[in-house]
Amino acid sequence: MIGQITLTLIKPYAVRHGFVGPILAKINEAGFRITALKYLQLTKLQAEEFYGIHRGTLYFDRLVKFMTQGPVVAAILEKENAVESYRKLIGATDPKLAAEGTLRKLFGASVELNAVHGSDSDENALRESAFFFSTLERF
Ligand code: RTP
Ligand code: MG
Repeated sequence: MIGQITLTLIKPYAVRHGFVGPILAKINEAGFRITALKYLQLTKLQAEEFYGIHRGTLYFDRLVKFMTQGPVVAAILEKENAVESYRKLIGATDPKLAAEGTLRKLFGASVELNAVHGSDSDENALRESAFFFSTLERF
């Protein structure tokens, strides 16, 4: 499984703007298999834990507030070289810098109000997948 999965979140901004369907369609078109999927609202504590590495930054409080202002869609995606392949599909954090056709270019508003999360390493993909899904919820 290592190297073959990544964890994505469709963030509250994108959920609120009706982008869940279009984003999942792009994920399918890019050849990822969705092996787990759920809709949930993060608590403040959960968002602080998920983004714990950003604690202490100037944007940490805004990030936690943004991630808890509405429901997110969480999914585990499977594909060869999943982490790198998905980071390529989503593009740069800042939509202004993201390549044409990437999810953040198509559906994001700003560096903070970006549309989706994607794991940044195989180790984090495993950790984040376990954070959101039990083994019974993975197919
Ligand atoms: P993500 O974790 O959400 O997939 O985004 P990423 O890897 O591309 O970017 P990362 O550096 O991990 O940042 C996590 C989230 O923090 C917010 N951020 N704001 N104001 C800023 O300069 C700034 N930098 C990062 C963004 O919401 C980013 O997605
Ligand atoms: Mg990150």
